[in-house]
Amino acid sequence: MTLPPPVLDPPFNITRVSHVILTGRDLDASQRFYSDVLGLVVSDRDKDALYLRGLEEAGHHSLVIRKSPDAPVCRAIGFRVLTETDLEKAKEWLDRRGIASQWIEAAYQGRTLRFTDGSGSPIELCARMDIVPRLMQSFDRFHGGSPQHLDHVQVAASDIQRAFDFYTALGFRLTEYTARDNTDELWGVWLQRKGNPHDIVFSNGRGPRLHHFAYTVPEVRDLIHACDVAASLGYASRMERGPGRHGIGNALFVYFRDPDGHRIELFNTHYQAIDPDVPPIRWDLTNTSRSQLWGLPATRAWFFEATEFEGVEPAEPLLKADPVTLEAFLANQF
Ligand SMILES: [Fe+2]
Repeated sequence: MTLPPPVLDPPFNITRVSHVILTGRDLDASQRFYSDVLGLVVSDRDKDALYLRGLEEAGHHSLVIRKSPDAPVCRAIGFRVLTETDLEKAKEWLDRRGIASQWIEAAYQGRTLRFTDGSGSPIELCARMDIVPRLMQSFDRFHGGSPQHLDHVQVAASDIQRAFDFYTALGFRLTEYTARDNTDELWGVWLQRKGNPHDIVFSNGRGPRLHHFAYTVPEVRDLIHACDVAASLGYASRMERGPGRHGIGNALFVYFRDPDGHRIELFNTHYQAIDPDVPPIRWDLTNTSRSQLWGLPATRAWFFEATEFEGVEPAEPLLKADPVTLEAFLANQF
């Protein structure tokens, strides 16, 4: 397959995925799940929002749950840029392309720029966030899976090529991808800025919708301990998939659904991906080991359910699996 060369001098410098903003109907329930069960740290809480972070994170929040009585949605995916100047460059770049953007006020963050990306997902950029203590050596506070930092998000997208083109123009580099066998048709793209397999993933499906967001854990045993703690506290039914290992990305993983149905992955064992001369890894669509190198198959819910973005109507995917391929794949999955 002929893939475009990586853009090594992007128009502005996005450094990493930074945070996810969700809505939830009951902040007490959200706090029990994310803090008491999984082990995220509560940075702040008021009547309107719960701010959470991983144990090693020095930024104020990587997960925000905003209270809402409505159907749970994702309000935005946040990325960090390196400097305030990069924010200005981002604004200019978006303006030149006729992409609407707005400066917004966001608590505990510096100036924040909100826009819609090439997949139709709401994105916000900031260069600064309030600094809080890293708790990576407060071992007495480790609990559940002891999640350390937000690593990546995955979005189901209706037009993978369009999302790919948008992010590669901004310097995101492709580490792995899925394509229909014997073709160049992209079905999933794993894109990174921070030097490991991915900051954001786009997978073919009804979208845009947030499929999951993922935190690293220190040890494999922490994945198991998270499952044990979840079971002990009555949250066994919230475990959706795993433990297992993905072929793509090499992640050892477990997935949970939160009280509002949002999906979170805990994982470890990613690899370094920095050198731009290393070609991305290709996975054929019919290769079921891309989703699971070993472990029990995913549920249908894992494949087809996701969180909608606020005010964004998902579209059916442009690419359709031929029925024979799809059924063969699903037959190996379920
Ligand atoms: Fe993931």
